[in-house]
This record gives sequence, structure tokens and C-alpha cells, in this order.
Amino acid sequence: MLDGRRILLIISGGIAAYKSLDLIRRLRERGAAVRPVMTAAAHQFVTPLSVASLCEDKVYGDLFSLTDESEMGHIRLSREADLVVVAPATADLIAQMAAGLAGDLAGAVLLASDKRVLIAPAMNAMMWAHPATQANLATLAARGVLRVGPNAGDLACGEVGAGRMAEPLEIVEAIERCLGGAGRLAGRRALVTSGPTREPIDPVRYLSNHSSGKQGHAIAAALAAFGAETILVSGPTHEPTPAGVKLVAVETASEMLAASEAALPVDVAVMAAAVSDWRVATVAPQKLKKDGKGAPALPLVENPDILATISRRRNDRPALVVGFAAETANVVANAQDKRLRKGCDWILANDVSPGTGTFGGDRNTIHLVDGAGVEDWPAMTKHEVAQRLAERIATALGPAAR
Ligand code: PMT
Repeated sequence: MLDGRRILLIISGGIAAYKSLDLIRRLRERGAAVRPVMTAAAHQFVTPLSVASLCEDKVYGDLFSLTDESEMGHIRLSREADLVVVAPATADLIAQMAAGLAGDLAGAVLLASDKRVLIAPAMNAMMWAHPATQANLATLAARGVLRVGPNAGDLACGEVGAGRMAEPLEIVEAIERCLGGAGRLAGRRALVTSGPTREPIDPVRYLSNHSSGKQGHAIAAALAAFGAETILVSGPTHEPTPAGVKLVAVETASEMLAASEAALPVDVAVMAAAVSDWRVATVAPQKLKKDGKGAPALPLVENPDILATISRRRNDRPALVVGFAAETANVVANAQDKRLRKGCDWILANDVSPGTGTFGGDRNTIHLVDGAGVEDWPAMTKHEVAQRLAERIATALGPAAR
């Protein structure tokens, strides 16, 4: 049920807009209030009168309407919803979102919004497969925009392929999933580590790894969306800071440990960072030069283990400590061993062998190892992994004491 939930529904101009009328009906049946925004192109496919009648609310569409702006400015429109849904999301609107353009009301509302956004793309199969559309979708996914569909099948243009907007009931289910989590971690504090560490060799060189921060940042975004006060301690990445998350940027493992300890107490800690196990014993104060005597020896010393340190804190150990295990062989067995050695409660094992694309890619396949056994998750996007983990964490912690 969606009793009392407020959905801001943006309808853009595609033939699938007719399905949005059914979507509104289904949402209203479940008790949601639906406030509609239509792009100019959407008016070519469904009438504002039909949309307004089903929503029992006026249709917004004009960024420069004095009446609309005085009654309900675009900033308020974007803030008063529990969720922003774009259905259908055309290739054009997706590109507009990725570029952050605010030339019409839909774009302005999306840019000014501090709420989660769910898109239901609908377009021709070639438009869907085009690298421009796929790059725009990757940009939106990295910002935490959620997506349902599209499905494959007969398209309105007569072609067959991926591009059919998800059916209204599928969109309703996705909305229920998004809103189901909201507030489940309210009153909780979460710590997430993400990205690589960089261990300096000299002022210009360092030891590091291929972590992009995509998985850790997605987890921080999901925990924040569930209502947790979330601190993200991250090594250098190109990932945008998720909405509502406090970022502490670090470089080395020692800095990551200090920032993680400073974030305590927290209810849950998720250590997704790829921390360098070693650093050079002595960092050269000046750039190392080729001196004709061969390559310099670089003795290494072990870095502190952040996961093990947090797991063994006496007075302020988080109620739930979740580690990752990045393995290239015997993935589950090594992860089980690592969980016991490091003292964490759960460990998410993932295969990082070359060819899996786990490091830096958008997808991951997780085996969740805990004291009870192993749960194999199917391959999914890193955002879906994050959502599933946040749900499991919320269930494990239960509601916060008031
Ligand atoms: O960043 P992406 O490109 O999205 O890739 C995601 C990922 C592959 C980095 C991520 O899913 C992942 O597996 N993170 C853990 C990487 C890692 O360092 O694994 P590990 O098996 O070496 O370490 C085990 C655990 O100990 C991890 O939780 C790690 O954060 C922690 N650790 C390791 C060494 C150390 N000195 N301190 C630690 O806290």
C-alpha cells in the first residue's frame, strides 16, 4: 500500500504516455497522492484534462506561469514529494537529466529535487541501444537515479526490441520497493568506506588499485535513502557524493582508519573500500631519480586493517560490521576464513578476477557469508546490491529506539 505517499509524476512525450494514465489509476487505488508534471511534448500524446481528472490535481507544465509559481513554485514541487517518478522517460528527457538542463519545468524540478528519482524509460530499440543513451543512463545510475524497465517486445514504431516502457503494475512495484525502505533506518548511524587508498612512494608516485568507488558509494546512497545518518569515508574516486551523505575524503589506509574511528559510534559499518595492504616503509621526500644503479628497493610494511580494528573495538563496536572479500579464487571459502580472521559479522564475497568487471564496472555478483551460512545473490547492478544490502541491514537492526 502507498497510503499517504506523495508521488510527483513527470510525464514526457512518448507514445507510452497513455500507460501513465493507468499508472496514475493504480497509484491512486493504493492510496498515493499523484501530482502531475507534463512536458510540452507529452501534451501531444495524452490530454492534461485526462491526467488532471485521474490525479484529482492540476497539471503543472509551465516554468514561467506566474500563477503556478505563486501557488506552487518549482522548488516546492520538487521538495514536497516522497518520490519523483518519470514515466515515460524518453531518450530526450534522460539526456536532459544527465546534462542537468533546466530549460522547462520537468528539467527544473528534477535538477532542484532532493528526493529519489525513479525513471521508466520508453523509446525505440535503436535509441535505447545508442551509446549516447547508455552513457546518459550510466551517469544517472552513478547519481543514484533508479530505473524500472524497459522491457523487450513489439514497439509502437513497428520494430521489435528493448524499449517498451515497463507495465504500470511493474512501475507500482518498483515505487513500493523504493518507498518501502524510506525511514527504515531513521535514527541509525552508518559508516561506509569506499574507493581505493593511495600509498605514496615519493611526492609523485603511489601504490593503489582499480577500485572506482561505485559499490561503496552506492551502498552509502542506499543507507542514506533508508534514513540512516551516513558517513562515507572514501579514497580518491570520480564518483559523485550521494545525496544526504557526509563525505570524508582520505588518501591513505592510515587516514581511512583515523576517519573511520572518528566516525564512531555507528550502528552499522560497511567496509567496501579496497584498502592497500602495504605501504612503502619510507616515503622519499623528493622524486626518486634514475641514478644508473638500477631500480630502487622499496621495502613494504603492512597497513593497519580497518575492518579488523573496527570489528574488535571494545566499547563502541558497531552492532553490525559488514566487510567485503575481493577474491580471485576459492571465493566463498576464502571469504569464510576472512570473516573469522577479521571478526566482522557479515562478509560480502565478490570475484574480482580480470574479466568479471567487478573492479570499476557497474555490476557485481555477491555471496553473503554470515555465521549461519552462505547466501548466493544473482548478478545485479551495484545499485541493486546496495538496495538489497540496505534492506537486509534494516531487517537485522530493526527500528531504532526512540
Ligand atoms: O570500487 P568498485 O570499482 O565499485 O569495486 C568494488 C570492490 C571490488 C572494491 C568491492 O566490491 C570490494 O570487494 N571491496 C573490498 C576490497 C578489498 O580490499 O578486499 P580484501 O579482500 O582485500 O579485504 C577484505 C576486507 O577488509 C574489505 O572489507 C576491506 O575493506 C578490508 N580491509 C582490507 C585491508 C585493510 N588494510 N583494511 C581493511 O579494512
